Amino acid sequence: MGELAYLNGNYMPIECAKIPVEDRGLQFGDSLYEVIRLYGGAPFRAGGHLERMRAGARVVGLPEDCIDVLPEVVEELARRSGFGDAFVYIQVTRGVCPRIHAFPSGLQPTVIGTVRPFDRLPEELYVEGATAYAEPDIRWGRRDVKATTLLPNILAATRVARKGGYDAVLVEEDGTITEGTVSNLFAVIDGILRTHPVGERILSGITRAAVIEAASNKGVEVLEESFRIQDLDRATELFFTNTYCEVLPVVRVDDHVVGEGAPGPVSRTLLEGFRDIVRRETGSA
Ligand code: PDD
Repeated sequence: MGELAYLNGNYMPIECAKIPVEDRGLQFGDSLYEVIRLYGGAPFRAGGHLERMRAGARVVGLPEDCIDVLPEVVEELARRSGFGDAFVYIQVTRGVCPRIHAFPSGLQPTVIGTVRPFDRLPEELYVEGATAYAEPDIRWGRRDVKATTLLPNILAATRVARKGGYDAVLVEEDGTITEGTVSNLFAVIDGILRTHPVGERILSGITRAAVIEAASNKGVEVLEESFRIQDLDRATELFFTNTYCEVLPVVRVDDHVVGEGAPGPVSRTLLEGFRDIVRRETGSA
């Protein structure tokens, strides 16, 4: 069928889906989103993504019942598109009303879904490793809520992309590394695999959780404890995780070479372990 959209109860070609100019998602970024990967046409952990959206809806006061329809929307977009490797994008906005900051009660949320094919990252990026650049983390204080207010993320991501990097390493004022603009981060420091704990300062990634499971399956210990930019001097491995890149080794941050400057054994093992989980749950990877 090709690239499709779902909008408030109807399926249509993606170019036919239109929203009013006074939608609060457009005017204020007053909305939540999720990106769900399809492997061989099967969604990977759609339930986890929609649970995360439900938790975000509770925080920002979006009516939770608009999420009830989404499991079926994800399935239908996957089925109708016929895509194998693809991703489904879901967005729920507060709805449409004359522009006013404090949102009125009783608005009807706008529910949007799209499905598009996904070109996997080039294999050489996994073999050679990616470059990252440090950027100050200037995002809001509830990064666990997957909100579409992403201006700090897209500005940092654009600066990194212009320099040829994959993503930023976001650094708070005290040097703490939180995550990337579109991914979570893990590092092997003094021989221990570490990642920032979940909470309000990072997005609790679906891939991050699956990679922690993969680590447990492979007998790799993970410490959910934050680390600082200075600690990267002692890091032998660093990698991003997200729905697109799965487990992507990083071999350079700015001018600093990580470890030997090549992807290391922990990231390789965990990419394999992650793909084992995907294969088990979707039938392909
Ligand atoms: N974002 N941290 C941030 C800030 C993210 O935006 C994302 C993913 C992640 C990883 O989450 P997950 O493993 O569930 O993909 C972490 C999606 C892919 C996006 O914005 O397109």
